[in-house]
Amino acid sequence: MIQKYKYGIPFETDAVPQSIPCAQGTPSCGTVTADESGFRFTYRMSNNEAVYGLGEALRGINKRGGSYVSFNTDQLFHMEDVLSLYASHNFLLLAGECPTGLFFDYPGGLEFDIGFTQQDMLTVSCKHADLYLYIITGSSLTDVVKQFRHAIGRSYIAPKWAMGYAQSRWGYAVPQDFREVVDHYRKHHIPLDAVYMDIDYMERFKDFTVNQETFPDFPAFVSEMQERGIHLVPIIDAAVKAEAGYPVCDEGLENDFFCTDEQGKPFEAAVWPGLTYLPDFLKPEVRQWFGEKYHILIDQGIEGFWNDMNEPAIFYTMQGMEEFRKEMQDFLSRPAEEVDWFRVRSLSSGLCGNSNYQQFYHNLNGERICHEQLHNLYGYNMTRAAGEAFEQLCPDKRLLLFSRSSYIGSHRFGGIWTGDNASWWPHLLLNIQMMPSLNMCGYLFSGADIGGFGADVSRDLLLRWLAFGIFTPLMRNHSAKDTRRQECFRFEHPEDFAHVIGVRYRLLPYLYSEYIKAALNDEMYFRPLAFDYPEDAAAREVEDQLMLGDGLMIAPVYLQNASGRCVYLPEDMLFVKFLPDGTLHQEPLSKGLHRISAALNEVPLFIKKNHILPLAAFAETVAALDETHLELIGWITEPTSYTLYQDDGLTKDYSNPQHYLTLTKEPAKP
Ligand code: GLC
Repeated sequence: MIQKYKYGIPFETDAVPQSIPCAQGTPSCGTVTADESGFRFTYRMSNNEAVYGLGEALRGINKRGGSYVSFNTDQLFHMEDVLSLYASHNFLLLAGECPTGLFFDYPGGLEFDIGFTQQDMLTVSCKHADLYLYIITGSSLTDVVKQFRHAIGRSYIAPKWAMGYAQSRWGYAVPQDFREVVDHYRKHHIPLDAVYMDIDYMERFKDFTVNQETFPDFPAFVSEMQERGIHLVPIIDAAVKAEAGYPVCDEGLENDFFCTDEQGKPFEAAVWPGLTYLPDFLKPEVRQWFGEKYHILIDQGIEGFWNDMNEPAIFYTMQGMEEFRKEMQDFLSRPAEEVDWFRVRSLSSGLCGNSNYQQFYHNLNGERICHEQLHNLYGYNMTRAAGEAFEQLCPDKRLLLFSRSSYIGSHRFGGIWTGDNASWWPHLLLNIQMMPSLNMCGYLFSGADIGGFGADVSRDLLLRWLAFGIFTPLMRNHSAKDTRRQECFRFEHPEDFAHVIGVRYRLLPYLYSEYIKAALNDEMYFRPLAFDYPEDAAAREVEDQLMLGDGLMIAPVYLQNASGRCVYLPEDMLFVKFLPDGTLHQEPLSKGLHRISAALNEVPLFIKKNHILPLAAFAETVAALDETHLELIGWITEPTSYTLYQDDGLTKDYSNPQHYLTLTKEPAKP
């Protein structure tokens, strides 16, 4: 059951398309105070009551013991004490006696204190008491998530090729950079389906342009790559370069499509291209205009995009820079020993701070609204601009789309990646822990930068990260300029990488089937063990293993120098290890705690007893997969079947019953 409560005059975010009448009276869970001083929800948690949710947020799967702030931030350091990342997913799931979901549909800054200040108190608060609160009750955690997911609408579905392995790096600038990557991957038989194009493909970082000097015949280059089985995926940034004569800028100015400053003039902010304007994506006509621009690249053969810098990221504003320069002049006029170094440092880092969001406005239906109040909707509406346009431009074809910034609602239009992580072992664990939380909030097509974006990766970290990444729908190795080169072929024994990534392709019939079924049925693809085994006290506390779809459990190795790990089996399972010679180690294990070994070039997984897993033969691209011959593995004591979803991976005819195939396996005769 979903109850919806209205406080003040909420902004209609369209996060929840399902029409739900507002309930009267006080909420069925917690206590609310809502007045001129703001909104505050409090709830007393019972002993050991776990709290899940928050999608893209730091810390563990169980969010209890921490505080979090929903305020979308271009956050370069994903440290434990960081409160905000790029997304606002204001959904909590209380795992008490009566499983309850809470969704705070509020587009501004929202604070969560989940037993941080006071161990048993959950507090959610914000400045303005204008919001919808949804309270969802159900028979289980899974049931609550399903109801919530149904209310927020079906998750975006990516084309199947986008589940292939992808290589990316900030810095690939000329065709030769891309050819080099593809040549090496093909030479070493490391599977590869896509190479991402970061900002360097553009002409001076201008959206919807391609640098004509470096790519004189871009369509020919796109098809050259397609002939080699490679999809090129360009980046699109939110801000539009302020430059007379650049059509996107001129049209935006002519039509008042950009956010405005205090004086009502187009607001200027600096991002990669220098000074830019910010499209007012909250206006439908701006979404339509910006969305149609994607056709410029689609017409040249492009089939997928990643939307970036859409928190929106701002390096500095004109106002901020003016003030900074004034202060600097004052500093320069003083003797060095009088300069307050700490003040200089905080002034310069403050240039890209949150106060910028108070400096510009959205103009909606004749009303001027300060951006800060609607801040968390910006990236969502950029994704929506593209998603809505794709429906018009290619109604029958799935295009790849994912974004950095998001708010619940954008999951209907695209996936997300989790931004600028680092090549640190704890970020591999963070990736594992974040995935089920994202699924709760509707983000199924998602993944992290495998190997880590910032910092220098080591070979062992990359291999371990890949051995987890093979399970995430988005499987992309991406890294920052000036870090150690992170393409798999740059490390010793590239055949180990070919093997680990190859396991993704062997598993793809199952992974794709589970991904699509999760999207179509509003289910989670990755689940914490607590969701499947709520009665099992040991399973409830597991933070580093995940259930995946129908019959799988994964337990990745995420510590350096570990030759294996301890795994808790909540029931009897078949332990399977994909060995580098292409064979499988298969070992039935009983419920309980086990120590398993897994070398760097081995991939472990677990199949529940009396479940089967279809396996394809190794392939180097999704298109080359032979899905007509599938090997079925499992520890079965009775005839067992699996419903495999298979389609062309490109069109949208999801409800066709012919897409469902029943695979059956009989137990071996004694
Ligand atoms: C941002 C993105 C990153 C990208 C870089 C350059 O930091 O998060 O993925 O490589 O911008 O475009």
